[in-house]
Amino acid sequence: MDTLENGLSDNIVWHSHNVTRQWREQRNGHKGAVLWLTGLSGSGKSTLAGVIETQLANLGIKTYLLDGDNVRHGLCRDLGFSDADRQENIRRIGEVAKLMVDAGLIVATAFISPYQEDRQRVRELFEPDQFYELYVDTPIEVCEKRDPKGLYQQARAGKITHFTGIDSPYQPPQNPELHLDGLRPIHDSLAQVIQLLQQRNIISIAN
Ligand code: ADX
Repeated sequence: MDTLENGLSDNIVWHSHNVTRQWREQRNGHKGAVLWLTGLSGSGKSTLAGVIETQLANLGIKTYLLDGDNVRHGLCRDLGFSDADRQENIRRIGEVAKLMVDAGLIVATAFISPYQEDRQRVRELFEPDQFYELYVDTPIEVCEKRDPKGLYQQARAGKITHFTGIDSPYQPPQNPELHLDGLRPIHDSLAQVIQLLQQRNIISIAN
């Protein structure tokens, strides 16, 4: 078997499927898209993503939630929090989200995804109308006070290293599709997300 420079076999070819995304989208009555939530640990990403998923499901929309803590129990259980591991974590999630969008779903993802470059790489996997970066902007002091998993406390005590916001950087998005104020009521943020999906013709909700 011949192997290409990037380690892939040249005997692997991409198959086009008979059931296309366009066909699925028509059947579903909405488009596929990814809502990429980014923000600090404790910023409220997972909570918001959960509320989005519930609301979309209640509207009859095909949806799925990919969450950092869950994915790290399975698909990414071999990865830690070094820059290289986070990069690989985000790359895998991006590829999974791409498959889900191809299957016609609206995928909400909740990962810190601290590096601009890694998020940009994921964006480039998608068509422009498929990828929406949502910045859940909550001041670190607030995240640290919430500290739902006690991790900030452990990071301050030096028991965890490479903790985002403490001894590992977070690069805020420069041009997110939505800049959400993490201090506002969650239903305000939800309303902004639903409005965005309607404005971009991803979903249409009959009044
Ligand atoms: S990411 O940086 O690769 O995007 P991801 O969102 O998957 O991170 O995982 C973050 C979650 O892992 C946090 O919410 C927290 O519960 C936990 N965690 C454990 N160690 C760390 C760490 N060093 N830095 C950030 N999060 C950590």
